[in-house]
Amino acid sequence: MSIAVPSGRARSSRGFNLRQGLRRVVEAAVTPLEIDDVLDVFHPLRRGAELRGRIVEVRPETTEAATIVIKPGRDWAGHQPGQYVRMGVDVDGVRLWRTYSLTHGPRPDGCISITVKAIPDGVVSHYLVHRSRPGQMIQLAQAQGEFVLPQPVPAKLLLVTAGSGITPVIGMLRNLFSRSEPFRGDIVLLHSAMTRDAVIFGPELRGYAARGLIRLVELHTDRHGLLDVADLDELVPDLAERTAYACGPAGLLDALEEHYASRELLLNTERFRPVTVEPGEGGTVSFADGRTVDADGATPILDAAEGAGVLMPSGCRMGICMGCVLPMKEGAVRDLRNGAITVAVPGETGPGGVPIQTCINAAAGPCHLDH
Ligand SMILES: Cc1cc2nc3c(=O)[nH]c(=O)nc-3n(C[C@H](O)[C@H](O)[C@H](O)COP(=O)(O)OP(=O)(O)OC[C@H]3O[C@@H](n4cnc5c(N)ncnc54)[C@H](O)[C@@H]3O)c2cc1C
Ligand code: FES
Repeated sequence: MSIAVPSGRARSSRGFNLRQGLRRVVEAAVTPLEIDDVLDVFHPLRRGAELRGRIVEVRPETTEAATIVIKPGRDWAGHQPGQYVRMGVDVDGVRLWRTYSLTHGPRPDGCISITVKAIPDGVVSHYLVHRSRPGQMIQLAQAQGEFVLPQPVPAKLLLVTAGSGITPVIGMLRNLFSRSEPFRGDIVLLHSAMTRDAVIFGPELRGYAARGLIRLVELHTDRHGLLDVADLDELVPDLAERTAYACGPAGLLDALEEHYASRELLLNTERFRPVTVEPGEGGTVSFADGRTVDADGATPILDAAEGAGVLMPSGCRMGICMGCVLPMKEGAVRDLRNGAITVAVPGETGPGGVPIQTCINAAAGPCHLDH
């Protein structure tokens, strides 16, 4: 007796037909829902789904900072230490997008982590630090960012950080020191925080210093005052020989950039907020549904609209991701980073209007957004 064995192509087309048939049966069973809606409930991190993550741990770091460990969806494409991730967090029923630096290199368990410092009146940072719980889902975008170490890693590094600005840098350090052959270059970390207890990752940083992996210069504002760049040469005499990275509040980064520029040295910086110029006059922002919001000349349209309860698209909130772009049909806005004015005139600027980034533009007179 001979048995006919189906060819590979016949087998795979039968397999495909079976899957299609099965999908139709399941779709009929779950109607009026889509099958993907059902899968979203039971398997939200599957390949092909919208990219999300599940919080698996919330670990306090200081009284006002916590590390959130997240299991990302299967389509997470990985990241380099120092990069950041945009995430959509549902706070009291409203999805708000913010950006956080990744505080690890690639981890063996496939999880990613961020460390958030709750800022005064900060909606998302407070929620993440004080109210988020394991099991909660968040929206994710893929990692981005240029604040990464070059390969090969330079032999002499200077890392200047303050407050939550340590977050991208701890990702770099953890990655360097978790290798089977830990990096043995010469790293100076100059870190400033309000008090010793407020140093995020304080014990870990001190541990690296004790093992001779870094030279740690810790400055506590309550005892030493703010880090003064005039002291840099004394603190780091061979500064000019070091590849330098800095992340912290705008005032510190501005002063460091000036210091480095005056010596024609290169400095890599990561800013959590955009650099802004003197404010203009502001104006009213109207929306397609007829709502109108008063916005002063120093406040990004995004903040003014959200403050008035308008649900706005957003992302990094500092002009880098384009997640906040909306068409302006009429009016004028002012770029808070450089003062440039963008104008939309009906009949002249095309029916689609002019795309503007609402996170870095303030109203410069009345303007109308198609949103
Ligand atoms: C590339 C990048 C990486 C970042 N990485 C981290 C990180 O690793 N850890 C972290 O804690 N934060 C990080 N941030 C900042 C973070 O995205 C949010 O801006 C921050 O958590 C505040 O959001 P919020 O909703 O709590 O504040 P909001 O409710 O948006 O703002 C509340 C008030 O605080 C002001 N404000 C907003 N953001 C800041 C800020 N960063 N500093 C001071 N005042 C602010 C607002 O103007 C407003 O007055 C990063 C930002 C960027 C762009
Ligand atoms: S929110 Fe990222 S560019 Fe505006």
